[in-house]
Amino acid sequence: MIIPASTAQSVATRLAHHLNEELAVPEITRFADGEFKLQLPSTDDRAVIVCSTTTADAHIELLQLQEVASREADEVLTILPYMGYARQDRAFRDGEPVTARAVAQAISTTTDRVFTVSPHEPAITELFDVPCAIVDGAPRLAEGLPEGLTDPLFLAPDEGATELAGAVRDAYGSGETDYFEKHRDRKTGTVSIEPHDTDVADRDVILTDDIIATGSTMATAIEQLNGQAARSIYAGCIHPVLADSAQATLGGAGVTKLFGTDTIERSVSTVSVAPAIATELR
Ligand code: R5P
Repeated sequence: MIIPASTAQSVATRLAHHLNEELAVPEITRFADGEFKLQLPSTDDRAVIVCSTTTADAHIELLQLQEVASREADEVLTILPYMGYARQDRAFRDGEPVTARAVAQAISTTTDRVFTVSPHEPAITELFDVPCAIVDGAPRLAEGLPEGLTDPLFLAPDEGATELAGAVRDAYGSGETDYFEKHRDRKTGTVSIEPHDTDVADRDVILTDDIIATGSTMATAIEQLNGQAARSIYAGCIHPVLADSAQATLGGAGVTKLFGTDTIERSVSTVSVAPAIATELR
């Protein structure tokens, strides 16, 4: 049985369809003090809980779903299309918690296995106390692109996203790849990128990143590409966090099309990672 948390209803529904498994409809209400009151249909088979832990509430909802399922099902699998707090994977300063470890350990308590889609740092899997596997969401991004792009250039906004750009290019079937040199001021968060020497004039450029959070990285890259007369600029990401005014920032920078996957449910989540998750679970 596929069990969706409220943050992952689209991807869970598609996953149930791909695996031809029953989709549970949890009943979620609240007690007078605001705490979640949750009820699940019973399952004695394999329970596949799908939850993007985008908020503190989502973490609690996941623990609740796991607790019920672990008392009833033979096996509990936990799918984290997006794992929140994953970027707090070390104590950057004295006195800071490694929050990724804290949540990974809590999630491990009542599950047999964990799967997470394209985490920023693959080493995050080592923080769980149960086996954790990575589902590669990158090739799915090619689905968000039209056929027949003109001389496509798959461009990573920083060196760390180069492999991702290559995976999207391979799934698309043609095109060149390259990356920008990016610097982020640790104090102000301001992003700057080095001028790029690949000729982008009259080409369709596809910027790909794992996460778009504030949109600063993509907006800086888009502005530079527009200055170099790119024909069009597509900005695709696996996890469309899109905090605050990120969408407006990217619109203002002149993006042609912004798209992401359904690891986080946003208006731009036009591509699904469900087929990639289904392949891992079969
Ligand atoms: C950083 O290395 C990540 O891959 C993304 O580039 C970053 O998280 C994007 O953040 P923002 O949208 O705030 O610039």
